[in-house]
Amino acid sequence: MAESITITDNRNGQSLEIPLENGGVSASDFSKLLPGVWFYDPGLTATAACESAVTFLDGDAGILRYRGYPIEQLAEDSTFLEVAYLLLNGELPTTTEYEVWEQEVTLHTFIHENVRKRFLEGFHYDAHPMGMLVSAVAALSTFYLDAKDIFDPESRDKQIIRLIAKMPTLAAAAHRFSVGMPFVYPDNSLPFTSNFLSMMWKIAEPRFEADPVLARALDVLFILHADHEQNCSTTAMRVVGSSHADPYSCCAAACAALYGPRHGGANEAVIRMLTEIGSLDNVPSFVEAVKQGHGRLQGFGHRVYKSYDPRAKIIKRTADEVFSITGKNPLLDIALKLEEIALKDEYFISRRLYPNVDFYSGLIYQAMGFPLEMFPVLFAIPRTAGWLAHWQELLDQDTKIARPRQLYIGPEPRDYVPIDQRRS
Ligand code: ACO
Repeated sequence: MAESITITDNRNGQSLEIPLENGGVSASDFSKLLPGVWFYDPGLTATAACESAVTFLDGDAGILRYRGYPIEQLAEDSTFLEVAYLLLNGELPTTTEYEVWEQEVTLHTFIHENVRKRFLEGFHYDAHPMGMLVSAVAALSTFYLDAKDIFDPESRDKQIIRLIAKMPTLAAAAHRFSVGMPFVYPDNSLPFTSNFLSMMWKIAEPRFEADPVLARALDVLFILHADHEQNCSTTAMRVVGSSHADPYSCCAAACAALYGPRHGGANEAVIRMLTEIGSLDNVPSFVEAVKQGHGRLQGFGHRVYKSYDPRAKIIKRTADEVFSITGKNPLLDIALKLEEIALKDEYFISRRLYPNVDFYSGLIYQAMGFPLEMFPVLFAIPRTAGWLAHWQELLDQDTKIARPRQLYIGPEPRDYVPIDQRRS
């Protein structure tokens, strides 16, 4: 079978053969035949904007792999910190490499006192923690001026470690502030996820001991959320990174993209939806209303997964483990009923809409005591590893600045009219 395609410009009969590489064709090759003709692809649904070796995703087969390792195996056997190392370095660490990595991340968990005093405490008393996180991450760039040396490998590694280490501290600080609780400093004798839980929940006890089942469940959720190839926030990271901005500014842009309900805010939307449904009896009429075009079934559907989201399968098992400690989330039965009805319904089947990772993650977070506003923040902590892996890859590839074309649909040229001569 020929590994190329031929296109013909019917306006002048010219044709061009373009090789197929890794399942794609080069748009710049197309452009040779079609100068000035742009590919119209809103949402970039049919456009590969980069080459990447970080994550493999097959939406039809429900496959997700980080650096070639199946997500199921990583969720079963690995830890978030090890997965972060894998994403960033391409290989699983040896024992020594892991010890050094863990030690370095642990040493960088503290934030500059002025980040806490001047920035975090400067927010309005009811500030949304995700809004605080977006701004605090951007503010970090003003504390680490060496971050601008993005082509100095030593500086780059240092910022990566700082960001991975400080994200849980900023996240917990944003929560504590938004509920009027005092800031808790990191306890660097604790592992990464338990340290975050300590900063979240510690009150007056000398040392906060997280339930090991809950700490492991959160670590698994962090693994599942660590990367997802070219999603909206990673694309934001890459677009800003392509301008050679420092990694804190890039991460702030990625956090902002994650804030939206179509992306990192989806699990919050799921809980609000389940709460609104309120009882099992209301499920069928809710599904009918969605089918009539009144809103969407939150936590259902995915741009890429069209059979099932492999993360949703793992998360269901994690939910059972968490509920065995916390007691069942009362919204679970409504979620299960909703899933059962939707999976049998022609509307959802024909559109290939299945539960995504967010359908259950919110129920787990809520059972663990996290307020809804913290859900996107909980997503940002692990995704920072993925964002940085893509940022690093982008810089190593020496890519062009992201600058798409547009199809102009505005007015034709016209002359300026002085204000007193304009029609009201
Ligand atoms: N409920 C009901 N109908 C839906 C849903 C849904 N959740 N998702 C898609 N559809 C329908 C659309 O109405 C459309 O129907 P039509 O062809 O009759 O017009 C069709 O399915 C295709 O929908 P699109 O919006 O074109 O699909 P797209 O791939 O652009 O959207 C998205 C993907 C944004 C995730 C969408 O499915 C959605 O809004 N889901 C709910 C929000 C959500 O769960 N987001 C989390 C994503 S996972 C993550 O970010 C970690």
